[in-house]
Amino acid sequence: MCSLKGGVGKTSVTLGLASAALELGLRTLVVDLDPQADCTLALGAGVDGQDDVAAVLDDPSAETMRRATVPSSWADDGLDVLVGSPRSVRHDRVDDAGAGLDGLRFALSWVSGYDLVLVDCPPSLGGLTRTGLVASDRAVIVTEPGLFSVMAVGRAMRTIDELRRGAAPSLQPLGVVVNRVRSRSVEQAFRLEELRTLYGPLVLAPQVPERAALQQAQGAAQPVHAWPGAAAAELSQVFEDLLERALRAPGAR
Ligand SMILES: Nc1ncnc2c1ncn2[C@@H]1O[C@H](COP(=O)(O)OP(=O)(O)O)[C@@H](O)[C@H]1O
Ligand SMILES: [Mg+2]
Repeated sequence: MCSLKGGVGKTSVTLGLASAALELGLRTLVVDLDPQADCTLALGAGVDGQDDVAAVLDDPSAETMRRATVPSSWADDGLDVLVGSPRSVRHDRVDDAGAGLDGLRFALSWVSGYDLVLVDCPPSLGGLTRTGLVASDRAVIVTEPGLFSVMAVGRAMRTIDELRRGAAPSLQPLGVVVNRVRSRSVEQAFRLEELRTLYGPLVLAPQVPERAALQQAQGAAQPVHAWPGAAAAELSQVFEDLLERALRAPGAR
């Protein structure tokens, strides 16, 4: 999950897909690359004084990877978190091109037994996001249907293209997830049309509606699938459909 902008919903989409993966019985690892570590918190995986993703990027050994990976409180089994850390900000330098970008890919080569790895990126296209993209098969760009967010999608697409020509030849853009959609907004409808004109089939369906239930579930560190009410059920279905779309993509492992 990546985008230049903060607050568009990268973490929310990561969490929604993790919730859907749990529902579908997929064994999943969530990698929290954002120094703000929101994802770790919402997954109930924040533990003090242990190794985390910053330690893994410093030393991508099997042992560090094992010590930095903890189970999420969402489930007894089947959902793990590579714990986020404010210290990962050191790895966000863009001049970290070349070997430095390979850290996460190398670290993930030690793990086995997962059906899916989700990577939540920080709100920049710097070293951390690039490290995440280089480790990934598919990139999901998250956006809101607003003017600046639509422009930021273009920059994320160009970063993916640039990495495909260099450090990440097998990376593919899965597409653009449009988040926080309000059905009655005329401005949003205009931006959605613009996104479809620019990116065609890369604009993924379904879109994610704006619903307070999403924030409530996140605040309670619960998967949206476990949250009561019609809005949570609607969101659960949206994330299941998006996950199925992602798993159907050509070349998905
Ligand atoms: N579809 C949505 N409906 C309601 N609130 C949302 C939705 N998507 C995101 N939010 C809220 O907006 C805030 C920012 O979202 P977040 O996923 O943290 O963005 P990012 O990771 O891109 O910075 C969070 O408080 C989140 O709960
Ligand atoms: Mg985030």
